[in-house]
Amino acid sequence: MRQVDSNVLANRLPQRPTATWGVLLAGDTAPPQDHPDPGAILKGIAMFESNRRTVVVVGAQWGDEGKGKLVDVLAERADWVVRYQGGANAGHTVDLGGKPFVLRQIPSGILHPRVRCAIGNGVVLDPDTLFTEIDELRRRGIQVEKRLYVSDRAHLVLPYHKLLDGESRASKEIGTTGRGIGPAYEDKSARRGVRVLDLRDTARLRSLVEKGVARANVMLESFGSASRASVDETLATIAAVAPRLLPLAHDVGLEIHNAIRAGAAVLLEGAQGSLLDLDHGTYPFVTSSNTTSGGAAIGAGIAPTCIQSVLGVVKAYTTRVGNGPLPTEFDAELGERVRTLGNEFGAVTGRARRCGWFDSVVVRYAARINGLTDLAVTKLDVLDTLDRLGICTGYTIDGELHTEFPGEIAMLERAQPSYEWFDGWLQSTAEARTLDQLPAAARRYLDRIRELVDAPITFVSTGTRRDQIIGLG
Ligand code: IMP
Repeated sequence: MRQVDSNVLANRLPQRPTATWGVLLAGDTAPPQDHPDPGAILKGIAMFESNRRTVVVVGAQWGDEGKGKLVDVLAERADWVVRYQGGANAGHTVDLGGKPFVLRQIPSGILHPRVRCAIGNGVVLDPDTLFTEIDELRRRGIQVEKRLYVSDRAHLVLPYHKLLDGESRASKEIGTTGRGIGPAYEDKSARRGVRVLDLRDTARLRSLVEKGVARANVMLESFGSASRASVDETLATIAAVAPRLLPLAHDVGLEIHNAIRAGAAVLLEGAQGSLLDLDHGTYPFVTSSNTTSGGAAIGAGIAPTCIQSVLGVVKAYTTRVGNGPLPTEFDAELGERVRTLGNEFGAVTGRARRCGWFDSVVVRYAARINGLTDLAVTKLDVLDTLDRLGICTGYTIDGELHTEFPGEIAMLERAQPSYEWFDGWLQSTAEARTLDQLPAAARRYLDRIRELVDAPITFVSTGTRRDQIIGLG
């Protein structure tokens, strides 16, 4: 067992009152309410205990599962919260006792005063978004200095990446967020990306920007776009942010490695969902990074053997934003009803999310590829008024039953889901704080999810407020 180094704990930042903040599920705007005793939610839950000090939180569907709320709850016990992939395409709506705003780059752990936050090497960093968020946090009384670390290896999202994402027909077909994520990861793979540490070397920076701009302009021309990127404008944009960005730059992998060795509790926060993973998702309708737990080690800069727990977050139903197959998608009428009940509109783009029944084929697949040790089921309350609920247990494709998730997108598009049907509970679950306060029909529904997915349920969330959560110790 690792020993906890008292210096690490002594190094924790001072406690500040927590009365004014709260984290909502992405896209929600209900007023926040603090749990009377935030620690009570985690009572009896082994997360962050001696052999579970490094925990990954991943989305186990197509994103927007409510990871922000779970990260918020778990951050009570964490020393570090680290983002490991994605960029400003993610969004957690937070409320600091006033107008809600969306954190896209900074982990929502920043709202916990004694937690340190890091943006790992696997993230593509949009400096504009980063500093807008830092300024907004400061305005709302959150101290960010000496608590936010940016990996010096993280790649930058530059204006020409956003231009390319906006002008490319391929991006439109996939339905990207238009934040320049794909083009920035393309430059990273093609070895012409600009990393944070390149801002320390003017000649190297210019050469990389020249390559990036030249390639971007070739692409823009091939799209038939009249827009062009400019080396000078790009360098001027970078020069404007460099004095603020460089002081945040650290060897984040080393910092986290040392923290883990000293016994710190580290939470690695994934963005998007497992079915949007570049390798394991519904390719090509995916994002450009590895959202699954394997990506956590790579993207935080630590060894895979450091990871001790993986919490998969799922909605009690399914949503997807953007294009691509969604086998259990509702018909238009039910889709509209659940979208309204669940306020299913994207936190970053405001797009309406597509909605469907819970798909156990998808989540069992996610449990396997992530090695889920725990499951958090969110938004159970959204189903409170439905009289009948379906759980998909397999797909019939060309007359053959499939219970494992296929890699072939055309097969998924032809898939006819098989459902098990459950009675609805037709009463509010919003005030349940223990499992036995849930209606029997809701417990049966959750039990079946646990059996089909083959992962224990550790949390059930029944509303947007942070106190609306049941911890199953
Ligand atoms: P990109 O990540 O902007 O390149 O978009 C690629 C795909 O991932 C599109 O279908 C997006 O809608 C989807 N996507 C990206 N970020 C999120 C997210 O935070 N939640 C849900 N879907 C996302």
